[in-house]
Amino acid sequence: MTDDEPAERIRTDGGTAEGADDVALDPWGSSTVSDYRKLFEEFGIEEFDEVLDEVPNPHYLMRRGVIFGHRDYRPVLDAMRDGDDFAVLSGFMPTGDPHIGHKLVFDEIIWHQEQGGDAYGLIADMEAHSARGIPWDEINEHSRDYLLSLIALGFDPEAGELYRQSDNDRLQRLAFELGGKANFSEFQSIYGFDGETNVSHMQSVVTQMADILYPQLDDPKPTVIPVGPDQDPHVRFARDLATRMRFFKVTEAFASFELDDAERPLVAAAHDAREAYAEDADMPRCGEAAEWLADADLDAAGVLVSESVRESAVEKLENAGMEPLRPRIRFFARQATDEAFEALIEDIEGEKRRYDQHIDAFDMGVDEAEDLAREVEAHHGGYGFIPPSSIYHRFMTGLTGGKMSSSIPASHISLLDAPEEGYDKVKSATTGGRDTADEQRELGGEADKCPVYELYAYLLTGDDDDLAKEVYDECVGGERLCGGCKEQAATMMREFLEDHHEKREEAEEVLDSLDIDLETERRGVAAEH
Ligand code: TRP
Ligand code: SF4
Repeated sequence: MTDDEPAERIRTDGGTAEGADDVALDPWGSSTVSDYRKLFEEFGIEEFDEVLDEVPNPHYLMRRGVIFGHRDYRPVLDAMRDGDDFAVLSGFMPTGDPHIGHKLVFDEIIWHQEQGGDAYGLIADMEAHSARGIPWDEINEHSRDYLLSLIALGFDPEAGELYRQSDNDRLQRLAFELGGKANFSEFQSIYGFDGETNVSHMQSVVTQMADILYPQLDDPKPTVIPVGPDQDPHVRFARDLATRMRFFKVTEAFASFELDDAERPLVAAAHDAREAYAEDADMPRCGEAAEWLADADLDAAGVLVSESVRESAVEKLENAGMEPLRPRIRFFARQATDEAFEALIEDIEGEKRRYDQHIDAFDMGVDEAEDLAREVEAHHGGYGFIPPSSIYHRFMTGLTGGKMSSSIPASHISLLDAPEEGYDKVKSATTGGRDTADEQRELGGEADKCPVYELYAYLLTGDDDDLAKEVYDECVGGERLCGGCKEQAATMMREFLEDHHEKREEAEEVLDSLDIDLETERRGVAAEH
């Protein structure tokens, strides 16, 4: 997001209440982020803008920069474009009423479902009980409300799946299995858990890991998890666990030694340049490649790296001396049974060379190798998980300024608010307006700091980019005054809520026809947290 083009991109700086806090990504902390840029630098979240052009019919939340970041979203986009299987999943803690902040996630799930994805919406009741201490009767009630709104907004429960964590046996079995690959030290470093953390809270974490991988239980497929950036630690951990569950690791190698991801492109470049230095270009030697690489012009070869990476690659090549330099795919048996390893070897076509813990294949591409590894794994009792992807949306600013919070009713509009109540809340919202009308005409309003503008951009204008842009331009151009602007927004909010309530009523029947137990009798008191 750049300051010089907001009017073009109809974007808003929503949720950036200044100095709100630093960038600690804490799933159970206060979810405000003061500087979204830091998320790219410090956590390696990638900018959504970089993939925007590749999205077929991008959602307005994508076009407007509300969805601002992602982790590894490309495999999902590729599947979407090629008509391959992919999935979308997100979850909701039933701690209170669903509000317009949750609507962003509902919309994201629904959009992916409309693009052909297998869609999942889940109720994180175990997390609500163990991490937030919500009693079961309240959980039952709120769960129903989340699901009704999700269906009312367009989720198709026949095509997709809705579930409650605590009622899903397959999920719990997967959670148990994943827990075997995680330990308490990791919980400490990732989530700051300590000796006082209740054990059910920890169970709810492995349950969330299972949620994230659940769409792949029957078949591995690219999966996107739309969430707020506070959930990124969960996404990273789930990606890690997905990899730890794999039987084989597939890498590209050029000789008997291993290369890391930084060194590999250098050695590939050396292989490409073999005509230039090899005595026999059909069989370049590692030593020859080392000599070339030591003083090759790498900029010209299109690979930019640090000198220390070059040195380590040169050293590896030198040590291999007369060994031929020859590209190959290497399969490591990470935790495969002997039987699975034998089956893999059997299935590799073309020339192969077998070692104790790995096998090299000479006539295969990486993608083909990945597919084969996954297939063999699936046939031998493994899951073959693909690391899940994520997309991140900005947090909405509260209507009273500061953060939007479920526990402050005036700060948000609940999807259960009466239409008139919604109208009133918008009318009393803070704005990015100036002190006087004259000043506003002269200087223009500050739409980028205005919670009312956010309502337009995130919700009220829907797919109508022209209207969003008009509000923005008129505001910053001083042609729009806050009184009239809020009246218009409040009226639109009233209409939205009227319509939403009608659809919720229609959704009642649909929800009742689904096999989801929303009146679970559970005994006990809420967990210590
Ligand atoms: N932890 C999430 C929250 O606090 C809820 C959740 C549970 C979730 N399982 C999930 C979100 C899986 C995304 C994917 O709201
Ligand atoms: Fe916000 Fe509208 Fe006022 Fe602009 S005119 S500051 S968008 S309320």
